[in-house]
Amino acid sequence: MSSHILAVDDEKDMTRLLQRTLEPEIDCKVSMAFSAKMAMTILDQQVFDLVICDIRMPGMDGFELLEHIRSNYPDLTMVMLTAFGNIESAVKAIKKGAYDFIPKPFEQDEIIFKIKKALERSLLLKENKRLLREKQTRAFELIGRSEPMQRVFDQISLVASSDVTVLITGESGTGKDLTARSIHALSPRKNNAFIPVNCPTIPEHILESELFGYKKGAFTNAVRDREGLFQAADRGTIFLDEIGDIGPLIQTKLLRVLQEKEVKPLGDTKVKKVDVRIIASTNRNLKQKIADNEFRQDFFYRLNVLPIELPPLRDRITDIPVLSEHLVAKHCKKMKKEPKIISKEVMDLLMKQPWPGNVRELENILVQGILYSKNDTLLLHDMPLENVSMKKSNLPGFDTSSVVSLPYKEAKEKILREFNHDYIGARLSMTNGNITRAARQCHMDRQALQQIMKRFSIDPELFR
Ligand SMILES: Nc1ncnc2c1ncn2[C@@H]1O[C@H](COP(=O)(O)OP(=O)(O)OP(=O)(O)O)[C@@H](O)[C@H]1O
Ligand SMILES: [Mg+2]
Repeated sequence: MSSHILAVDDEKDMTRLLQRTLEPEIDCKVSMAFSAKMAMTILDQQVFDLVICDIRMPGMDGFELLEHIRSNYPDLTMVMLTAFGNIESAVKAIKKGAYDFIPKPFEQDEIIFKIKKALERSLLLKENKRLLREKQTRAFELIGRSEPMQRVFDQISLVASSDVTVLITGESGTGKDLTARSIHALSPRKNNAFIPVNCPTIPEHILESELFGYKKGAFTNAVRDREGLFQAADRGTIFLDEIGDIGPLIQTKLLRVLQEKEVKPLGDTKVKKVDVRIIASTNRNLKQKIADNEFRQDFFYRLNVLPIELPPLRDRITDIPVLSEHLVAKHCKKMKKEPKIISKEVMDLLMKQPWPGNVRELENILVQGILYSKNDTLLLHDMPLENVSMKKSNLPGFDTSSVVSLPYKEAKEKILREFNHDYIGARLSMTNGNITRAARQCHMDRQALQQIMKRFSIDPELFR
């Protein structure tokens, strides 16, 4: 596939010269931007392998663009164009993270050689990242770089080698199922069965015979002996999904299995020893259920030997980029489509969503995006953004219906005023009008907060 280069220079002739020099010699397409700001907009919408950028430009200069690129596209390789003989700025560019520099005016051979080298480096970086991601995926399938997820990975590694019962808790769609599978896959039982049981979908009176099996004649339809899921999971793992929803009878029977490591099929007089590792999960608050007499406390303690709590996606938004890339790659492969890239605009918006349905909701939106998208990049208009933006406007304090008829500036000012009055007002009332403490809570310094309060005429006296 040919490489995509962005040439940034306020001198239009220079960008054209770069295009004319490079395109016939290297398998690449050179796009042009005539200011750093224009480059930023283009970078938001398209994916590049390399940026060639002049240092001295009116307005935002090349160093500032370099900084912007370092923090927003850390894997993007950058080569700077420097004025001939200006070694100082060349050194500064390298120090700030540029890969190389090319003095102007340049020799054709020199620039072709340097750009080829920079493109090779860019490809290598991409390949490394892909391999790293693949390795991580193979080991766990669970993706996450955030601190809370790193803690979860540590817990998984810790419990995988033993036989202890694990209780996985977390909101719907946070990856409880995947966590249970990862524990099994990393355990010495990995070559034996992993049997998931979705407890609430099996009616209570059938669940018992499903789990423990039955003897011929145990009930009207029991025409032959049948083994239960516990026996099927022998030497493997049984995953009791949504255990918070099972009734008291099964709780009592499961408690016995946990205590005695044996099961009694329905209608049988004898018990059978089983060697099964139990992993359970729930999105319910079991402590509350215990308080409401809906869940046995002794059963809870037996289950909760090693708890793993999965954090909701909104508490680990730094995982959204890796997770989204992983999910897009996974589904493109599944749908037999070429791999797609996520544009920065889309990624920014994904990171701002509250995601009440967690990773499953993110996955659904990305799958729809893949289906709509026509080329190799997921753009804003490919995404089912009505859903996303509706959710956004449902956020408290972001109801724009009262201002849509106003001109933009006035509308923005009005919303800003309302937001500041609500937000800072809430902070001040929590601190009884103490500005220093309110500022600390807002992670701002006192002076900055005071300035905003002055601008929007927020009177601290009202809260004292
Ligand atoms: N950390 C993760 N890395 C990669 N994929 C994930 C991760 N967490 C969740 N997923 C994906 O999100 C979807 C939902 O995950 P999963 O079924 O494990 O969640 P759950 O907590 O069991 O949800 P529920 O409570 O609704 O049963 C799955 O398709 C899963 O592959
Ligand atoms: Mg689940």
